[in-house]
Formats: sequence, C-alpha cells, structure tokens
Amino acid sequence: MTTAPSAPDFSDQLLDLLASHTSVRAFTEKPLDDALVRRAVGAAQMASTSSHVQAYSLIRVRSTSNRAELAELCGGQEQVQSAGGFFVVCGEVRRHALAAERAGENMARNLESFLLTVIDASLFAEKLCVAFEGLGQGICYIGGLRTRLAEVDRLLDIPEHVYPLFGLCVGEPEPLDSDDPRKPVPKPRLPLEAVLFDDRYPSDAAMLRLMDEHDAKMEAHYSERGRPGHNWTGGLVRRMAKPLREELAAYYQSKGARLE
Ligand SMILES: Cc1cc2nc3c(=O)[nH]c(=O)nc-3n(C[C@H](O)[C@H](O)[C@H](O)COP(=O)(O)O)c2cc1C
Repeated sequence: MTTAPSAPDFSDQLLDLLASHTSVRAFTEKPLDDALVRRAVGAAQMASTSSHVQAYSLIRVRSTSNRAELAELCGGQEQVQSAGGFFVVCGEVRRHALAAERAGENMARNLESFLLTVIDASLFAEKLCVAFEGLGQGICYIGGLRTRLAEVDRLLDIPEHVYPLFGLCVGEPEPLDSDDPRKPVPKPRLPLEAVLFDDRYPSDAAMLRLMDEHDAKMEAHYSERGRPGHNWTGGLVRRMAKPLREELAAYYQSKGARLE
C-alpha cells in the first residue's frame, strides 16, 4: 500500500516571519516590481471575506506628483513618497451598488454594512503585508491618510461607495547599521495573558498588573533606542486624551456610508 506524501510543513518559517515583523520607514529607491505586486495581491485576495462579498479594493498610487502630495497630506510622512510603492486600502460597496442597480434592486446600508467593508479590507491588507514581507519587502501602514481625507479624496478622485481607510508603504528596506536608530527592531507586545483569556475577561487589577509588566519592557525598549522615560500606557493616555479626526463620519457619509 502506498501512502500519500505528507504536505510540506512551513509552520516554523511562517511563525518566524510573523514574529520578525517590524514597520519599515526607510526604503531604498528600488521601485516595487509589478510581478511581485500581482503575486502578493493575488495571494491576499484569498483572505476570508464576509459572505464572500470582497468589500475592498486597493489603489496603487503611481503618479510621482500625487505621491509627493500624499506624503504632505499624511502629515509630512516621508516614506509615503520614498517607498518602492504606495497603496491606498479602501473598503467598498461600489461593486455591490452596481450589481444592485443593474438588477433594479435597492442596496441597503447601515453601520453593519460599513463595518463589514472595514473588516474585509483590514483582513485583506494584513494578508497582503504578510505576503509582501514573505517576499522580502518592508511595509508600513499609514493611518495618517485619514488626517486630511477630503483632500486625499479629491486628489485620487474617489467615487461614491468607496471608503479610503489607510495607506500602505511597501518596498525594499534600506540596509541600516545595527546602531542606526532608524533600524527597525521588533517591538515587544503585551504579555499573552493580557490578550488571551479563558472563558471570561480578567479583573481590572489583573489587567493593570499585566500592563505594568508591558510598560517595563517598553521602557527598556525605548531607552535602548535613545528615548528614556517613555512607556506604553503613557503613550496610550496621550493618544486617547482627545478625539482625533472628528470629520470622518461626515466624510464617509458623503461617500454614501450610513453609520447608524
Ligand atoms: C492602521 C495602522 C495605521 C498606522 N499608521 C501609521 C502611520 O501613519 N505612520 C507610521 O509611521 N506608522 C503607522 N502605523 C504603524 C504602527 O505605528 C506600528 O505598527 C506600531 O507602532 C507597532 O510597531 P511595529 O509594526 O514595528 O511592530 C500604523 C499601523 C496601523 C496598523
């Protein structure tokens, strides 16, 4: 009796790849190869998608002048212009609107249908990043895309029912010396016990102890990188002290989203 050959086991390589992730903000000038983009996007399209609706799309910004303008609109983030490639990740129900219109049907919209696009686009984007990283590229998400979103919208001529969510820089990482402060090193994450619970959410006291543990690790991380006195909860408190980007609801509603 012959036995079927067992499937190759890539689990160690895959988990090592995930564990080695760092955002990359310094890139070489090498443009992103087209074949590589198509390979990565094709693989990422296999991401799970709510009811197979595939409610996302990806705009690759090729125009040099638009890249320069976007770098400014994203808050002066140099890497938006300098990375081998820059993409805008969008949630969208435009294809669904087209299908409904052609069928003479109404397309229902509410917070659920908006969230669905955000979830689908994010799952796709993260798979895309893993694919690019597996192909030797560095990546950096750009939430700064939402800072002046109405201007981004005009620049890229975004149609109705398409919701730009964040940018994505992709390219060959610049080789940097290990003592260069720009050299990306993996950032510590919360202890596993602070994100994985059995059956019920832990007490606040238990959570605060785990957060203190993480603060100590992050303080050491920042100290080694020339920023002593910084920790994780301090950053959280600063980040959440006042609401950001309050015009977003109006923007997404102007594109056809309903948020109630
Ligand atoms: C949705 C999203 C938006 C982000 N926006 C930015 C950004 O505008 N600029 C930037 O330099 N990094 C941005 N980042 C990268 C985060 O700062 C980074 O992932 C985080 O600090 C953890 O570091 P690491 O990716 O190196 O592990 C973003 C990440 C995510 C997931």
